[in-house]
Amino acid sequence: MKTPQDLEIKPRPVSIDFPADTPRFWYADSPFISHFFDAFSTTLPVGEDLFIFSLRQVREQIADPELQKQISAFIGQEAFHSREHAKYNQLMKRWGYDIDAMDRSMNRMTGRLRRFLRPMQALAVTISCEHLTSILSAALLRGEFMTQADPHVKALWQWHSVEEIEHKAVAWDVYATLDGAYRTRVVWMTFAIALISFRISTRMVHMLRHDGLLWRGSMWREGMRFLFGRGGLCAVLRRDFLDFYRRDFHPWQQDTRELTEKWKAHYADGNLLLPAERSAA
Ligand SMILES: [Fe+2]
Ligand SMILES: [Fe+2]
Repeated sequence: MKTPQDLEIKPRPVSIDFPADTPRFWYADSPFISHFFDAFSTTLPVGEDLFIFSLRQVREQIADPELQKQISAFIGQEAFHSREHAKYNQLMKRWGYDIDAMDRSMNRMTGRLRRFLRPMQALAVTISCEHLTSILSAALLRGEFMTQADPHVKALWQWHSVEEIEHKAVAWDVYATLDGAYRTRVVWMTFAIALISFRISTRMVHMLRHDGLLWRGSMWREGMRFLFGRGGLCAVLRRDFLDFYRRDFHPWQQDTRELTEKWKAHYADGNLLLPAERSAA
């Protein structure tokens, strides 16, 4: 299966106001799970800029006008994601986490990547990260790890997930059009996983230390269940993740349109909160 002909990739300039009393442990009162997503969020504004950069570097080599249109939509969506995550990250800054230092270190790292990676290597990093975000997005839209979330934070992640799914094959199709090699994408997937794991774990440690919870055993037990337990993150994502290593893989072989259609139907009036959540919020 290839990218559907009638696929709509629509940048939605949403703006989420996070109330000042948004709970710090916004997922089921769980510091570990909340901070897992928080730490991921801290990497996104700068990370998504790198994905945009990697596509801009090569887009003049793309002749197909439809793919050109999709690249523009991809850039539009990622720019809005950066903006909203930066807003959420500012909320975390008010909670006392050193978001500025995190941004500085992300900027240093992506600056090096921009300088040293060849364009196809940078694109391979992007398709690897896009695969990881799209399989996580599908899980979040199925309701995994979101059922007990604060409605505003959930709105951020689910809106982001919908758009990650819509544009999941854009960088992939560019990479394929430019004859990107299988080996290159596999090598840079390993790099992407190492990088993301390192960034998320060190930022979680910073947040948990700041909360005074770093040495609490029950928090770690719950965290290990979330990551490695039955029904946990690795178990949920494993199959979709491994598809990446098939030589003939294409992101739309995982048909996730039903998930995004469901979200669009719920939020047709543009309000990102479900009706029940609106009255509670
Ligand atoms: Fe994004
Ligand atoms: Fe993306």
